[in-house]
Amino acid sequence: MEIGMRHLHVTVVIVFLLFMIFKTVLLLANKLELLDRIRSKTKVADMILGLLIVVTGIYMMTLKSGIESYLWIKLILVILAIPLGIVGLKRHKKLLALLSVLIIVYIYGIAEAQSYKFKRDHIEISNSGDVGKQVYTKLCVDCHGEDGKKGLYKAPDLTTSALNDEEKTLRIQQGKGLMRGYESELDQQQIEALLEYLNAL
Ligand code: HEC
Repeated sequence: MEIGMRHLHVTVVIVFLLFMIFKTVLLLANKLELLDRIRSKTKVADMILGLLIVVTGIYMMTLKSGIESYLWIKLILVILAIPLGIVGLKRHKKLLALLSVLIIVYIYGIAEAQSYKFKRDHIEISNSGDVGKQVYTKLCVDCHGEDGKKGLYKAPDLTTSALNDEEKTLRIQQGKGLMRGYESELDQQQIEALLEYLNAL
């Protein structure tokens, strides 16, 4: 279910973005008659796509236990950019339409990078207490669950993982499939603490 939703979200975003770029190019090239004809034909499709983007996006946000700041920024920008683009194209305001496309491209970028600065910071960990547990709770529970068995996005059960420490380290640093890599956020010590925690699950 959650994998299907994710695919739907990404597909709809790409289709919507291509539509927007195409229509904005028509506007910039002053092909206003053609633009208006296409616009009137795709009005309903645009509305459905816009709605699908927001609904599938919010559904995926509900799967997370903590919402990172980039996701809020993403949501606000989406809610801003879609009407901006629709109004810009309708009233033939080139700057508005262009701004909307740029915002959507930026949103796509921060979604890929999972950071609004295109760079993820080292995570804040207090040195007192179990470092491995803190890291796991911050970065891993959404998909793997407190007990390692949650299996969101078909994540494997970590308590029965057949991987050795080296392979796990590589998986954590580089990610695979729907799990992203955490190389830029975690230093060697934190990864070691995390491995210890995983192996005790
Ligand atoms: C977005 C969801 C998600 C998050 C967050 C996530 N994982 Fe994963 N994890 C997965 C998925 C999906 C796989 C399976 C990848 C594959 O093999 O295609 C996986 C695989 C793994 C594996 C390999 C298990 C095996 O036996 O193959 C390990 C180890 C692992 N994750 C640890 C972690 C740790 C540690 C964190 C936090 C730093 C983390 N994961 C965060 C989704 C996630």
